[in-house]
Amino acid sequence: VNAKKFGEDLVSWFEQEMRELPWRENRDPYRVWVSEIMLQQTRVDTVIPYYNRFMEQFPSVEALAFAPEEDVLKAWEGLGYYSRARNLQSAVREVHESYQGIVPDNLKEISSLKGVGPYTAGAILSIAYGKPEPAVDGNVMRVMSRILSIDDDIAKPASRKKFETAVRAIIYEENPSYFNQALMELGAIVCTPTSPSCFLCPVQEHCAAFAEGTQHELPVKSKK
Ligand code: ADE
Repeated sequence: VNAKKFGEDLVSWFEQEMRELPWRENRDPYRVWVSEIMLQQTRVDTVIPYYNRFMEQFPSVEALAFAPEEDVLKAWEGLGYYSRARNLQSAVREVHESYQGIVPDNLKEISSLKGVGPYTAGAILSIAYGKPEPAVDGNVMRVMSRILSIDDDIAKPASRKKFETAVRAIIYEENPSYFNQALMELGAIVCTPTSPSCFLCPVQEHCAAFAEGTQHELPVKSKK
């Protein structure tokens, strides 16, 4: 893949197609963080009203750090996976106590926070801080498996590192935030699991699977 042209084509598409979502209003790292935690197991349309209410009730690191846990869990009601809310609050308290309320802007410190795995760390660093870090979730693995014809089993935990390395090699340094969000968006609306809309794809010309006609065979995903 010609990384520069790939990044330009992908990001131009995103700039045209980008939905107005509440967590895209600004780059406040706390706002980005909450959105990425909510979006991990829940779809965008469901998250929006929860996210707006949560931000009204807990608009800042301090507001969430000092809130009673029961208020936080109450606000999370309906989203499920309550450990996400508990971990988020405990990590936010850590940011208040150890980092003067500033969400860390480097991989080492941010990854030490409870509930912040490699995906969330990369998402916050790129979207809020503009750092060229990969943010690889299932959608991004599917997209990249097709673009680069990578047949590693995405159900295996070890595969994520391979995809991170692949993204690192082609990440669009001029705008890592839009690059990562564009990969997520492409996976969500164009490069879908069973019937990808290759005819609408802004990076069709870069796609190894499309060239080979193997888009329906990728990604490889074993049953667990
Ligand atoms: N899914 C995960 N992160 C997202 C984001 N920042 N925007 C839209 N969908 C997402």
